[in-house]
Amino acid sequence: MALELIRTIEEFRRVRDEARAAGSLGFVPTMGFLHEGHISLVKMAREQNAVVAASIFVNPAQFGPNEDLAAYPRDLERDMEMLEEAGCDLLFHPSPEEMYPPPKQDVYVVPGDIASRLEGAARPTHFRGVATVVIKLFNIVQPDRSYLGQKDGQQVAVVRRMMRDLNVPGELVVGPTVREPDGLAMSSRNTYLTTEERAAAPVIYRALTDALDLYRAGQTNADTLRASIRTTLESAPLVASIDYVSIADPLTLAEAEGEVVEGAMASTAVQLGKPRLLDNVILTKSESRGA
Ligand code: PAF
Repeated sequence: MALELIRTIEEFRRVRDEARAAGSLGFVPTMGFLHEGHISLVKMAREQNAVVAASIFVNPAQFGPNEDLAAYPRDLERDMEMLEEAGCDLLFHPSPEEMYPPPKQDVYVVPGDIASRLEGAARPTHFRGVATVVIKLFNIVQPDRSYLGQKDGQQVAVVRRMMRDLNVPGELVVGPTVREPDGLAMSSRNTYLTTEERAAAPVIYRALTDALDLYRAGQTNADTLRASIRTTLESAPLVASIDYVSIADPLTLAEAEGEVVEGAMASTAVQLGKPRLLDNVILTKSESRGA
């Protein structure tokens, strides 16, 4: 089946109703400028569902006033080729007016504590925008399964919590972070890095995996693990600032005190040149889930 591009909610609902007859619908929400991380989610959805839909929508509601909404990279043609090749059936690509009809959005989903920590401290309205667009997309697409990447660990936690607290139907499937050969987590914003910054960027994953190694070697003190990550990042030449280093409960994102529990999320955000880069690993003794 060739990829079908759909720009309106009405048309998507019509096609979706027809597609429903084929069986389960898997959905991969994105902001476009796709990379192998997104494509791995589309491929997972392809394996697990009869019909696969993706969305590309650069959501203004999740960008702060001084953030990169206008500059956010876009390439619909290339994205469509990648989606079609990965086996995606439907692409929902609405305009901002279609998603947020004038005069304005007045009702938002406002997540609580989980959204005020980590990324939320630096970007106070970000997760309100994410949760709102995700519930809108879920209501339009009505997926049986939705797919998000572990790379945005706090986003995963917020969406999971929203689905639980608001009784949103369907399953959330979380795909592992897809990395460049040197460990840098794939992100559409990596395109902002200069050659020198790109060469320095793998330090973020190295700092996190060093902490993971320490944890696996028996170090379970949260302060010691946070200090290890910070020391590695501070020694890196182009890291201009470290926004946070966190070891947190993966469900609530409350910061770990004392002993770390199995499954905690070690995460960091650093300013490396122009972009803010995020990454995380799950602290687990089993080799397969951590990184
Ligand atoms: O991760 C993203 O690309 C976005 O935050 C999402 C989930 C598509 C919502 O706009």
